[in-house]
Amino acid sequence: MSDLILIMDFGGLHKELLARTVRDLQVYAEIIPWHLSADKIRAMKPTGIIITGNQENAPDAVKCDPGLFELGVPVLAYNLAGVPVPSTGNNIHTVDMTQTKDLQGIIKDFIFNECHAKGGYKLEDYISTQVELIRETTAGRNVLLALSGGVDSSVCAALLSKAIPGKLTCLFVDHGLMRQDEGDQIEEIFSKRDLKFIRIDAAERFVGKLKGHADPETKRKIIGEEFIRVFEEEAKKLGKIPFLAQGTIYPDIVESGGAHGATIKSHHNVGGLPENLDFEQIVEPLSGLFKNEVRKIGLMLGLPEYLVNRQPFPGPGLAVRIMGDVTFQKLNTLRRADAIVREELDKLPESERPDQYFAVLTDTSSVGVKGNNRTHDPVLAIRAVTTQDFMTCSYTPIPHELLNRMAVRISSEIEDVSRVVYDISSKPPGTIEWQ
Ligand code: XMP
Repeated sequence: MSDLILIMDFGGLHKELLARTVRDLQVYAEIIPWHLSADKIRAMKPTGIIITGNQENAPDAVKCDPGLFELGVPVLAYNLAGVPVPSTGNNIHTVDMTQTKDLQGIIKDFIFNECHAKGGYKLEDYISTQVELIRETTAGRNVLLALSGGVDSSVCAALLSKAIPGKLTCLFVDHGLMRQDEGDQIEEIFSKRDLKFIRIDAAERFVGKLKGHADPETKRKIIGEEFIRVFEEEAKKLGKIPFLAQGTIYPDIVESGGAHGATIKSHHNVGGLPENLDFEQIVEPLSGLFKNEVRKIGLMLGLPEYLVNRQPFPGPGLAVRIMGDVTFQKLNTLRRADAIVREELDKLPESERPDQYFAVLTDTSSVGVKGNNRTHDPVLAIRAVTTQDFMTCSYTPIPHELLNRMAVRISSEIEDVSRVVYDISSKPPGTIEWQ
């Protein structure tokens, strides 16, 4: 077994950053909760341990297994603010906020000089290990995947089709709330791969159910429930399929309590699947990967760059970018405006491009002039943000010339928009999405 650095989490914000930093140095890292027993940790045969967190987030940390610090491996305490860990002997190396400017340098020194890790962990190895594992687990039987066209489910499909060509069925429920041409692009990419691709055109069903509902949470709920219903109906038509694949990634597991015994949070999002479907086993081949690693693997598996590096897009799609109720007409207006916004911002060099950018159709109408007539049409907003992690963001100061070009194009190419405004809210207090 190659090197393993454990990130022992006493709560707080640094665990994922630390694990990613270690992996970027080509050493495998895993996050474990502070309450894991010394015996379990010993069985994992770590090369070294990094402990991180603060007392506020781990008030019970004093109860952690005192054997933890007698494992005989080097320990680095990273920004361990006030956690009452037991006395640790002399093999602990402490780093606090005043020294963490060069995080990579500190970690590098720790894992290579103190832990004597050899390095060499590569994503290619992850692919080959998973391919073997998927083949072994599924043993020639079929696998079903709910493909949304998002990065995770797309990479999951690509990995599975490499491992078990012809044995994967991808069910793509097209809820009609996607961006311009997106459904067709997904079909184009996956219908060429060695898998069975089924696209369900359910736009009428979803828009029908959403009719008259303006409340954002109600809209999300309707979409989530309808997704389950459609998926269930279609999966039943396929007969018995023993395995269900999911594009769960490592942060999903870490953020919902971890793979080491805590409860897994259920995501109240589109893509949540029915619980009463009769699968023998769930297959989650991306569950050891961070998002940046998922993207890299996607490219290695030959998925197009635009799909792998796409911006986040909410599960309920354009429904949460239309204020008020959702209609086909509003979807059409927003889709066209959004395509213009993305087309214009895509022209910027990558270093100047915002991290997420889109159009929002407000439920406010205002007076406008078209030819000799006064009109009374909706106000359209442009949102563009710069962010590291999508948890906080600043609005992107787009040059006025470019804002003007988008506004002119939207007003001239789309009949039913009266005016265009630019959202200059940061997060907090504003979220990235409007609903
Ligand atoms: P907010 O709006 O909370 O969004 O600042 C943060 C990031 O999450 C995305 N987002 C969602 N993604 N389902 C998703 O899959 C959702 O319901 C959802 N709501 C927000 C959002 O686009 C942004 O990148």
